[in-house]
Amino acid sequence: MQNGRTTITQFIIEEQRHIKDATGDFTSLLNDIVTACKVISDLVNHGALVGVLGAAGTENVQGEDQKKMDIISNDVFLRSNEWAGHLAAMASEEMDEVYPIPAKYPRGKYLLTFDPLDGSSNIDVNVSVGTIFSILRCPGECKDKPSADGFLQPGTEQVCAGYALYGPSTMMVLTTGNGVNGFTLDQNIGEFVLTHPDMNIPEDTREFAINASNMRHWEAPVKRYVDECLAGKDGARSEDFNMRWIASMVAEVHRILTRGGIFMYPLDEKMKAKDTAGKLRLMYEANPMSFIVEQAGGSSSTGRERIMEIKPDGLHQRVPVILGSKNEVEQVARYHKEMDADAAA
Ligand code: AHG
Ligand code: MN
Ligand code: MN
Repeated sequence: MQNGRTTITQFIIEEQRHIKDATGDFTSLLNDIVTACKVISDLVNHGALVGVLGAAGTENVQGEDQKKMDIISNDVFLRSNEWAGHLAAMASEEMDEVYPIPAKYPRGKYLLTFDPLDGSSNIDVNVSVGTIFSILRCPGECKDKPSADGFLQPGTEQVCAGYALYGPSTMMVLTTGNGVNGFTLDQNIGEFVLTHPDMNIPEDTREFAINASNMRHWEAPVKRYVDECLAGKDGARSEDFNMRWIASMVAEVHRILTRGGIFMYPLDEKMKAKDTAGKLRLMYEANPMSFIVEQAGGSSSTGRERIMEIKPDGLHQRVPVILGSKNEVEQVARYHKEMDADAAA
């Protein structure tokens, strides 16, 4: 307790106290993740002063240009989480292969996946970025021989998911399957303090988020949904809608957790032509965010199935993502169902 305030460490310890057979491993792992996010937050805050802005001149496994901060944040996560003995391996959007815990350190029972810097195209223009992470149990033999296979578990198996948002304040939002709680970093004492207990997404919304520059490539159900939003009061919905697109999923999800909304990065014809199922990554972005959104009472779907039930077929698999306020996500899923039924008839 910090002058009547609950720190993230206290919150996690108290939450874990109720779990039978808890060894403290998980609490300690989360502590290391929190430290990594505080380091990244500090670097992002100092930006040009510490020379971390700009391009790295390299590409990641998906062929995306890497920023210097993508690589630095990835390294911060590896160094913070490799030594303590809680993990068997880590996997990240910025690494081609799984990172087994080096032999000089003890190996533990958990796996960690992360997107070290989400929305990194925004870093040079000083717009919010974030970090997304997910913790899985290491199945069977995976502890001795960690490989990509151990990670290929559906999102329903996640033990914990969270994100750090580096915005006007730095925040950490977490779920361990027991609701969603938000913490704000008090820079003076260097601690995250519980400020947003039991976050909840309203079931209805009049705000949508999508990159409209892809409109001509969208499938019919997404076009229909967005057309109806844009038609506002005069259209089928009889309501005016507002639109946002930050291009940082962390910031969009945080807005949705705060005031509701729907976020879409759907499958489109351009992706189909490239044989890709989506833009966002299942293991590092879609699953952790889906866990958080569902725990806050929202929904998360590809348009055709619940994201958390997808059995992953590859570490870097991409999926369509439609998440947020339950009734709107269900409406978009209904439009997909209707179109697919018409196509099959
Ligand atoms: P990342 O910076 O980790 O590659 O993720 C960016 C993601 C996501 O955060 C955002 O919603 C989306 O890509 C933005 O895509 P567009 O640039 O196509 O709008
Ligand atoms: Mn990302
Ligand atoms: Mn990223």
